[in-house]
Amino acid sequence: MMTRTFHIPGHVAIIMDGNGRWASARALPRFEGHREGAKAVRRAAEAAIRLGIQTLTLYAFSSDNWKRPKAEVSALLLLFRHYLLTEIEECRRQGIRLSIIGRRDRLPGDLIPLIESAEGETAPGSRLHLRLAVDYSSRDAILNAARNARTREEFTAVLGPDVDLLIRTAGEQRLSDFLLWECAYAEMVFLPLPWPDFGEQSLREALAAYGRRVRKFGALPEATAGRALEYASS
Ligand code: FPP
Repeated sequence: MMTRTFHIPGHVAIIMDGNGRWASARALPRFEGHREGAKAVRRAAEAAIRLGIQTLTLYAFSSDNWKRPKAEVSALLLLFRHYLLTEIEECRRQGIRLSIIGRRDRLPGDLIPLIESAEGETAPGSRLHLRLAVDYSSRDAILNAARNARTREEFTAVLGPDVDLLIRTAGEQRLSDFLLWECAYAEMVFLPLPWPDFGEQSLREALAAYGRRVRKFGALPEATAGRALEYASS
């Protein structure tokens, strides 16, 4: 068997898109797509652990998703509640530390103690930091950070680590107000498949694409930098 090794990104963020299209393609209600999408969340977390990723941030509900029909918003919040009620024990068992990022003041009140106990109970987890973005807007997060943070380091401390690899499923190629500051130097990989079909193979595919990228952070790749120096001094 051929084994391939890739440089593993520390922080992977995913825009989980295409639940609705997945459902429509099967003549199912959109809710079924979200339900199937919740299963893919677990698959992604397990795959991230196996592949040695340290932090995985998933976009579960954007602040703009409140604009969707009430029934769909309720269905998404119901899935989130179900996730908090049923997955915590599994997270603990697997060493997953769970954090919820985003606003909490507009969420149904009964979710808050569930979020707090999920975060508290999984806090010792050290194999994967799983961050779920709920009622999340990156612009709002940056505005909030700017109230206290003054330096880049302080912003990073408030917002979270820089993203190494940003994945979006279902073909769209935009950031949709997700981790705008943290993605300053992220490599982006857009996969055509809808989120409910996402699994370990998809993550491996994205990591392979990431492994082929040359990250420069505005500088020059090492080999080229060496040549540039020779050229400058000749
Ligand atoms: C985008 O698909 C997906 C969302 C708006 C919600 C993501 C939610 C989940 C994956 C399930 C719940 C999550 C947890 C953590 C339990 P879309 O509806 O915009 O798809 P479309 O563009 O095909 O219509």
